[in-house]
Amino acid sequence: MVCLGNICRSPLAEGLLKSKVDPQAVLVDSAGTSGFHVDEAPDTRMIRTARKHKIDISGLRGRQFRVEDFRDFDFILAMDQSNLKNILALASTPEEEAKVSLILDQIYPGEEREVPDPYYGGDGGFENVYQMLDRATALIAEKLADGKKL
Ligand code: 4NP
Repeated sequence: MVCLGNICRSPLAEGLLKSKVDPQAVLVDSAGTSGFHVDEAPDTRMIRTARKHKIDISGLRGRQFRVEDFRDFDFILAMDQSNLKNILALASTPEEEAKVSLILDQIYPGEEREVPDPYYGGDGGFENVYQMLDRATALIAEKLADGKKL
């Protein structure tokens, strides 16, 4: 799960997907394309929104996306077009490029929809992001359980 800061959208996506998959079978992680918030806890507004829905993301810490992630993960899900572009710029083979997609393509195939960055907005933005990512991760968990590709 990849966003810009790794303190709002992608840690929530990580927490949500972890809550829906078998941890023995699926490794879930998140990262930011930037290094702005390395080692920081998620934004307190995102922690609060997640907690309201019984998801605890308070123990997660920010890290920057690295090229090794192409080797270590089968699927790399970007929150918006900018993240997608920045990740693809680091790919060195067509196989690596093929691992990368927009997370909302899962629920809106072909529409290129983005998870809006809630960082500079009000609390409503965080709940909106929660609802989108809850739906997307539910579908992802179903596909993974069925051994399907994303
Ligand atoms: P995120 O949100 O990409 O969902 O973690 C942001 C967090 C911090 C910043 C931008 C986006 N920032 O510019 O510091």
